[in-house]
Amino acid sequence: MRKALVAGNWKMNGTINDVKELTSKICQTEWNDVDIMLAPSFAHMHSVSEILSGTNVLLAGQDCSEFDQGAFTGETSADMLADLGCTHVIVGHSERRQFFGDDDLRVARKARKAQIKRLCPIVCVGETLEERDSGKTTEVIERQLCAVFEMIENKFVIAYEPVWAIGTGKSATPEMAQEVHENIRQYSAAHSHANGSDLRILYGGSVKPDNADELFSMPDIDGGLIGGASLDSESFLKICCSAAKLIN
Ligand code: PGA
Repeated sequence: MRKALVAGNWKMNGTINDVKELTSKICQTEWNDVDIMLAPSFAHMHSVSEILSGTNVLLAGQDCSEFDQGAFTGETSADMLADLGCTHVIVGHSERRQFFGDDDLRVARKARKAQIKRLCPIVCVGETLEERDSGKTTEVIERQLCAVFEMIENKFVIAYEPVWAIGTGKSATPEMAQEVHENIRQYSAAHSHANGSDLRILYGGSVKPDNADELFSMPDIDGGLIGGASLDSESFLKICCSAAKLIN
């Protein structure tokens, strides 16, 4: 049995007051059937962490360094995230792969470093539109997963995020997403330390209140990684309600 997970990825948005207000509104509801997680920017992490203390809302980093510590200007270590109360960290988000040079190997190193520091990595995978159109979706995703699986132990989450659906308003159809999620589960069961039936696989890419129900009704979609819609408490809470109602 897999418990639903909905994570808000706030990316590089908002002022400290915006995120405090957003966090407080999200914390007003108590959730039991679904794990709720927030991933603020590192600059806002401490303030968000303070508001979350005493609640069961989880905290995640948006990325972490592949290194332990030292002269790495601008980086955030897994230890620093854990110090601030994070239990999870996103690695391999397509924006990191696309704009900041995170290739498969570096993503795998980050996932490993996270696990060593007792953070659960949320490993993002997904194909570009060009790759999908040329029939390479499965190949690309298996390549991305294979690199990570060579380096990590059990206890990770996967987020399937088709690059063409992120921030575009163009979500994968539930059937398209289900097909990929099912493949990811089978591939993970065969090639990683995870037990396929326990592994949580999130869908991300233009999830909104009006498409969450149909996506979360799919048997292999265990929750969502939410970007734009997580910046509005009402939208985010509606998506959390869909997950609580439809997953498990
Ligand atoms: P989006 O972003 O919901 O704005 O498409 C998802 C993500 O990048 O995780």
